Amino acid sequence: MLDQKKMLEYTAPIEADLEQFNRKLSDHLQGDSPLITSIARHLLKSKGKRMRPAFLFLSSRAADNFTEHSVDASLAIELIHTATLLHDDVVDESDMRRGQETVNSQWTNLISVLIGDYLFAKAFRIMVGTGLVRLMRAISRATERVSVGELRQIEETGNYDLSEEEYTSIIADKTASLFSVACEAGPILGKRDARERKRFALFGEKIGIAFQIVDDLLDYVGDAEVTGKEVGNDVLTGMVTLPLIYSLGKAGGPSRKEIVGHLSANRANSFEKVYEFVQDNGGIDYAYNRANELTEQGLDSISNVGDSTYFQCLKNMVTFTTARAS
Ligand code: IPE
Ligand code: IPE
Ligand code: MG
Ligand code: MG
Repeated sequence: MLDQKKMLEYTAPIEADLEQFNRKLSDHLQGDSPLITSIARHLLKSKGKRMRPAFLFLSSRAADNFTEHSVDASLAIELIHTATLLHDDVVDESDMRRGQETVNSQWTNLISVLIGDYLFAKAFRIMVGTGLVRLMRAISRATERVSVGELRQIEETGNYDLSEEEYTSIIADKTASLFSVACEAGPILGKRDARERKRFALFGEKIGIAFQIVDDLLDYVGDAEVTGKEVGNDVLTGMVTLPLIYSLGKAGGPSRKEIVGHLSANRANSFEKVYEFVQDNGGIDYAYNRANELTEQGLDSISNVGDSTYFQCLKNMVTFTTARAS
């Protein structure tokens, strides 16, 4: 598995862009109120991987679409991402994020939700500042999709009959939407035609789906020390993800019944039982293979991009998406 040091290697050509991003981000989060300042400090202390900005910068530069609005577009998207995490940790009752206590745990649910709203508002103000209607349309639509995905997921919690197709459509909305718009931002800002925008949007969409499949896998096989999130959380909260969907479909009959019993009972040893079941039925391997297939399809859709250091790094980032450990 690849760690974050590898990502630093892959993002070396866009280091200056990321530095500008970081500078502007901390400026934007300065001083609106003492509470906001202290939570902003908490959020800036443990930064996250900055995957969406990295994809935005690399894909823009690889296709010669980087403009004076690229950093603002990445800021808007990363702030929206962060806002959705603050809301998601309330929804999921999570205590740990990026290796530290969540805002809902260190402060309260109410504060986490309201800071999330504050970050959404900031993001939209930065986005509107670009004056680019096409960009605003794409980012607003992606934000709407995140909410749809999160709500759909709540509806399907504890549904052990969830199909792979439904699961994919949920994670496409909740996660791939922001990756997709991050990759579409380049051709939007570069004023490319609709076909080119679609190619990059599709690239981001496939990468985003693969990213979430791997994130869900890390709930089974990850190391909390590395991922910064507890293992087994999804299983214990009735979240049905690809390794389980595949394994339930494959097992059938009595062993399926037994596992659904464990899942519903939510006993202390449930996770070990479910983990064994998923491992034995090939669910882990299946999900990894599926994620890799999707990244290949993603790269196929932008095969028209000429070779460059940026494009090589973009391809490495794609590999990182499925081989990452956190
Ligand atoms: C976490 O996203 C939420 C998911 C969509 C799985 P990231 O793993 O990109 O979060 P950070 O920003 O690096 O913490
Ligand atoms: C990520 O969802 C949050 C959004 C995409 C809005 P998850 O609940 O699956 O991710 P983690 O495990 O909390 O990061
Ligand atoms: Mg969560
Ligand atoms: Mg969630």
